[in-house]
Amino acid sequence: MSLIELRGVTKTFASGAESVTPVSGLDFDVEQGEFVCLMGPSGSGKTTLLHMLAGIDRPTEGAVVVNGERVHEMAASELARWRTRTVGYVFQQYNLIPVLTAFENVEVPLLLLKMSKQDRSRRVTTALAAVGLSDRAHHLPRQMSGGQQQRVAIARAIVTDPVAVFADEPTGNLDREAATTTMTLLRRLVDEFGKTLVMVTHDPQAAKQADRVVHLDKGKIVTEASHA
Ligand SMILES: Nc1ncnc2c1ncn2[C@@H]1O[C@H](COP(=O)(O)OP(=O)(O)O)[C@@H](O)[C@H]1O
Ligand SMILES: [Mg+2]
Repeated sequence: MSLIELRGVTKTFASGAESVTPVSGLDFDVEQGEFVCLMGPSGSGKTTLLHMLAGIDRPTEGAVVVNGERVHEMAASELARWRTRTVGYVFQQYNLIPVLTAFENVEVPLLLLKMSKQDRSRRVTTALAAVGLSDRAHHLPRQMSGGQQQRVAIARAIVTDPVAVFADEPTGNLDREAATTTMTLLRRLVDEFGKTLVMVTHDPQAAKQADRVVHLDKGKIVTEASHA
């Protein structure tokens, strides 16, 4: 069984009389410890797909099974708990809380889990060290470069020790050097920390790091290429 299994997944957004179906009848598997890259034109359903993989959104039809759990059947509150324990999410715009330090930002997901303050602190320290930012723990986001902010966001995504990490255009706002550092770090999450990673990107350099590239067009998989 694959870590992630999508079967016949369709997502329709209805807005008044109009409706959009960005993902339609999709079958998609990701293996444990695999790094998959999703590419495709703007509007091809990449973000919608990633949201369903991460339990941020549920499909209109079909099944999403992650780590043996049937995500599409979960009630909203159950889904929120499942998300905190099982997945990490990295955004193009980092989405850090501006008034919190790097340490406090990374700590946020742990506040949703039952854990002592000491355990929390130890985990945050480990996650910041893993992304090479131990010396920035008490900086605010605006006191850091874009690349550093994205590394804080990656620390926040891994601090709960999730099985899978999802990243939506994580290098989209970064210069080449910061993008390379970010991609090296994401590759290490897979190789050293055993995470499963699904990343959306437009950047061919970033896609080179993946084990497999999946191309989407109009909500369907059009081609798959394996690097390994
Ligand atoms: N919450 C939503 N409500 C209505 N339409 C949406 C919503 N999210 C995405 N869409 C539509 O679905 C299509 C695919 O969007 P998206 O998955 O963001 O594509 P991509 O990430 O590949 O650019 C777009 O036409 C978009 O406008
Ligand atoms: Mg998108």
